[in-house]
Amino acid sequence: MFEVIKTEDRHCEKHDLDWVCEFTKFASRTLESECPKCLEEREAEEERKRQIEFEEERRKAAVAAKRKQLEQRISSSLIPDKYLTRSFDNYRVETDAQGRALETTRRFAEHFDQFQRTGAGLIMIGRPGTGKTHLACAIANALIEKGATVLFVTVSKMIRRIRETYRRDSEYTEQQMIDSLRDVDLLIIDEVGIQRGTESEEHLLFEVLNERNSVFGPTIILSNLTVEEIKAYVGERALDRLREGGGKLVVFDWGSYRGNVADDADLPCADSVVPLRTESRLPHQRPFPMGD
Ligand SMILES: Nc1ncnc2c1ncn2[C@@H]1O[C@H](COP(=O)(O)OP(=O)(O)O)[C@@H](O)[C@H]1O
Ligand SMILES: [Mg+2]
Ligand SMILES: [Zn+2]
Repeated sequence: MFEVIKTEDRHCEKHDLDWVCEFTKFASRTLESECPKCLEEREAEEERKRQIEFEEERRKAAVAAKRKQLEQRISSSLIPDKYLTRSFDNYRVETDAQGRALETTRRFAEHFDQFQRTGAGLIMIGRPGTGKTHLACAIANALIEKGATVLFVTVSKMIRRIRETYRRDSEYTEQQMIDSLRDVDLLIIDEVGIQRGTESEEHLLFEVLNERNSVFGPTIILSNLTVEEIKAYVGERALDRLREGGGKLVVFDWGSYRGNVADDADLPCADSVVPLRTESRLPHQRPFPMGD
């Protein structure tokens, strides 16, 4: 294509090779050809660099996609911001009983696949401030990290969101609402028993737990009720079934930690945490059926 205007015999020291250099004219410039071996090596090197760049791009894209999925799982879990920072590691153990609660919950997270086979969950009861929500969310955070989907709700929100579906202009149907509770890998229901005695709580809890059981979906129930009260509430039979499947009733019978939180450097408070979920939460948007 380009006219060779002259040639010259050359020797490449590197390759100990005699070769013929061709001079061609291109626009106003004169171009010299390279030693064929040098050319081959340079092209191979460039190709290798392109491959590395390509792999690097692909790796970055995969990391970004993974992170996006993680953010999405965090966001759709509806775990309150404060509790996104709660883990097994920042749960302080001062008594044997606390140590056992930590171990039970840690084991639940570690062997979650086994609980998914039976559908057995945990019931965590005790006075406010003893760390029930902390440890339940520690489980949730660990599982989300591993790729599981989690949903955190209080009973009263569950009731409210389901009632809202009865309105004619409701965005979701009751069935969609129930499905969203059924279809996560782990469901955490907080503040069970507060509206105990009301038909809606009992009826709804029963229905949701049935739905979860039908797909072997483990559920964690959190409650301020006493052992006797929770037995009376969910029934001995339900507790037996829970144990048979490997589930446990965990009793938090120690004092509240609330007064210590502010002094505990490992426990960030709500306004100092989590830029993660803001991105996927747009104003005026309710991205998930159970969302606020
Ligand atoms: N043993 C503990 N170690 C560290 N923080 C704790 C402990 N127990 C409770 N907390 C913290 O105290 C606060 C109240 O605990 P929370 O889990 O909300 O109690 P509960 O759900 O039992 O009412 C939370 O900020 C929680 O992280
Ligand atoms: Mg709580
Ligand atoms: Zn050469």
